Amino acid sequence: MSEAQKKFYLTTPIYYVNARPHIGHAYTTIAADVIARRHRLLGDDTYFLTGTDEHGQKVQRSAAAVGVSPQKFTDEVSSSFQNLWKRMGITNDDFIRTTEPRHTQAVQKLFQLLYDRDAIYLSTYTGQYSVGEEMFVEGPPGTIGPDGKPTETVTEENYFFRLSNYQERLINLIESGELAIQPEVRKNEVLSFLRGDFNAVTVRVYDEALFSDTQHPPPGTIVPANLPADPLDIAYERGWVLKSASGKYYIPGALKDLSISRTSFKWGIPVPGPKQGEAEHVIYVWLDALANYMTAIGYGSDDPAEQEKFKKYWPADLHLVGKEIIRFHCVYWPAFLLAAGLPLPRAITAHGWLLFEESKMSKSRGNIVRTETILDAFGTLKPKPIDLPGPVLSDEYWKHEQDLFASDVLRYFLLREIPFGQDGSFSFDALIQRYNSDLANGYGNLVSRTLSMIQRYKAGKIPANDGSQSQRFLLADIQNRVSNSFSDCRFDQSLQQIWNFLGSVDQYISEAAPWKLAADESRNSDLETVLYTAAESIRIITALLYPVMPGTTAKVWSQLGLGDIEEAARKGELKNLEWGGLKPGTPLGPLGPIFPRADKGLIQLMTDIETNNASTTTKTTEPPAPAPQSVVSAPSAVAPATEGATETAPIAIDDFVKIELRVARVLVAERIPKADKLLRLEVDLGYEKRQILAGIAAWYAPEELLGRRIIIVANLAPRKMRGLESHGMLLAASHGEDGKPILATFADTDEIPLGSRLK
Ligand code: MSP
Repeated sequence: MSEAQKKFYLTTPIYYVNARPHIGHAYTTIAADVIARRHRLLGDDTYFLTGTDEHGQKVQRSAAAVGVSPQKFTDEVSSSFQNLWKRMGITNDDFIRTTEPRHTQAVQKLFQLLYDRDAIYLSTYTGQYSVGEEMFVEGPPGTIGPDGKPTETVTEENYFFRLSNYQERLINLIESGELAIQPEVRKNEVLSFLRGDFNAVTVRVYDEALFSDTQHPPPGTIVPANLPADPLDIAYERGWVLKSASGKYYIPGALKDLSISRTSFKWGIPVPGPKQGEAEHVIYVWLDALANYMTAIGYGSDDPAEQEKFKKYWPADLHLVGKEIIRFHCVYWPAFLLAAGLPLPRAITAHGWLLFEESKMSKSRGNIVRTETILDAFGTLKPKPIDLPGPVLSDEYWKHEQDLFASDVLRYFLLREIPFGQDGSFSFDALIQRYNSDLANGYGNLVSRTLSMIQRYKAGKIPANDGSQSQRFLLADIQNRVSNSFSDCRFDQSLQQIWNFLGSVDQYISEAAPWKLAADESRNSDLETVLYTAAESIRIITALLYPVMPGTTAKVWSQLGLGDIEEAARKGELKNLEWGGLKPGTPLGPLGPIFPRADKGLIQLMTDIETNNASTTTKTTEPPAPAPQSVVSAPSAVAPATEGATETAPIAIDDFVKIELRVARVLVAERIPKADKLLRLEVDLGYEKRQILAGIAAWYAPEELLGRRIIIVANLAPRKMRGLESHGMLLAASHGEDGKPILATFADTDEIPLGSRLK
């Protein structure tokens, strides 16, 4: 780490393994990945940690319910989290599991340290325990716990942590901002918990003011008129409340000591002996879990390299959490650290919940959406290229490309749709709508219209830059606003700023009408200026978008002829963007569609995958249901001909819409050696090009087909014939068994753009 280089240590919560991952978990991990990527491109020495929380009664019970050992159970679920993050291209530097020896040993050391510093004592406690949330709660037996289920009465001899000692210090740290909590509403929530409930004090003041001399107020007393203006001032004078460093009241003693061991179950880290002796005590799962933030980077390790790492990265710069675990992170965790004499994290930021059908998405409510569903469904929008030069891509490589593409869509959607910190509803419908409006029609369209004009009018080379438009979009201003909102985790606003910019570029192109300039040779330099300005703007938009959509921005970057975006990020080329970065004369990379349009069929596909999965998930590691590629079975080279009368059962309109019929133009048509019936076609769908094999060689000469507009079934699963893949099927009608198939087509006078859908 160089002198000037800052370190940035960022964490997600470690996820419980009692359920397989859903998009609620992905939400936090995605946000953390965006933050980590942004810090890396700014040049910070970034360390990004995530993991799984594997101890506790809940896990012990979930494992017992499916009849496996807790260890086997946690191994399986933990790997489903790890695999998902890999599929999504998440760039965590480490993945910690709380059942790993490096963690368990270090937690025992921390416990021992706290004990040695007299922060822990042994006592007996009877209380109401919420198993779901792993915490004691106030209230009578059978109280409904925070997980919505009745609590259990638990009497235990427990170790207690002297939490009450830290009330004033925590209040001061939070009020002063030394321990930063975002957003403000969560900071206030934590502060009111720490300060105590003023109602009790206020009532006491009122009582004393009214009733100190008489048993009962005289009839007709107007209560408020007799009272002091501010009861808390009185309480302060009487020493019932105190003031923090910033002059705010708090009730001393409002923070109670915390039980930090359990004897009622075994699946946890044993309290270290022999001094504490009682081997049956396991360490409270939240102390165990919170410590992961230190144990993963070497706390408690005997290895000098690990100890160095801890010195370098601790304290954490940001703990990213969901709003329901704010008290654990903003009260208990800093108190443990104060007691151990260790530095506190600098900031804790809490986001809201993803709601599905109006309530928090969670396994116990049974209303989850799995991230794999979105990856499997959206991945199908990105067909494997077949006519691009270069190495043949392996299926595995291509599957990963599809995952990264779909993951980008989800990343964009979640961060754009929901103001970070607030709750937000998730729906497949909203996902598709935003995809089409912002990505396919917005960013994707701007890229493809600009680059295809450069291809057509400028032989695929970046045109000259006369510098005249460098101030047009007030770049510095845009960057400042985007960067400020990114720094405050206001992702929706960053993206909105970028889209405002994108809109201005679109408008500029429409007004400048380069297609008209191209028709007039004397306007060549104007044409170059417009195309350069559009392409350079795309470069900047793409650099700004990189942390949010790393996969797709990488594609745009290489189409712009700029090479590898990850390398550009490492070299600091994605920050402090200045006009003029694109060098005139640079050849564009190979072009291809970035965001093919999605239709409503995808909603059905996602719903089907979820339903299918819900009915088959009993085992924890079941692979995701394969995405049905299409409702039509194996593609044949030509649409089967039917005689006039209807031969099949009627279908619902919902079935028809699953078939994607689109207008395409034939670019290449050729015979295939040793296959008399087949022609190989390359067709242009406007948004992409693909290869189709058609069994029409007996009736059509290849030359007859060139340039013709035909109709294809665009969403057929690819099929291999004679060693070549066919990506779709063309439509033709024929009469009788051996009748000539006549291609379905459009008249040349019909103004129907390529790619248009037939409905
Ligand atoms: N294991 C604890 C955390 C220990 S951290 C030292 C835990 N795990 S959890 O799996 O229940 O949830 C962890 C986090 O997952 C939440 O804080 C939140 O970040 C994310 N989410 C889980 N469900 C979510 C939604 N429905 N919506 C948004 N985020 C959600 O608590």
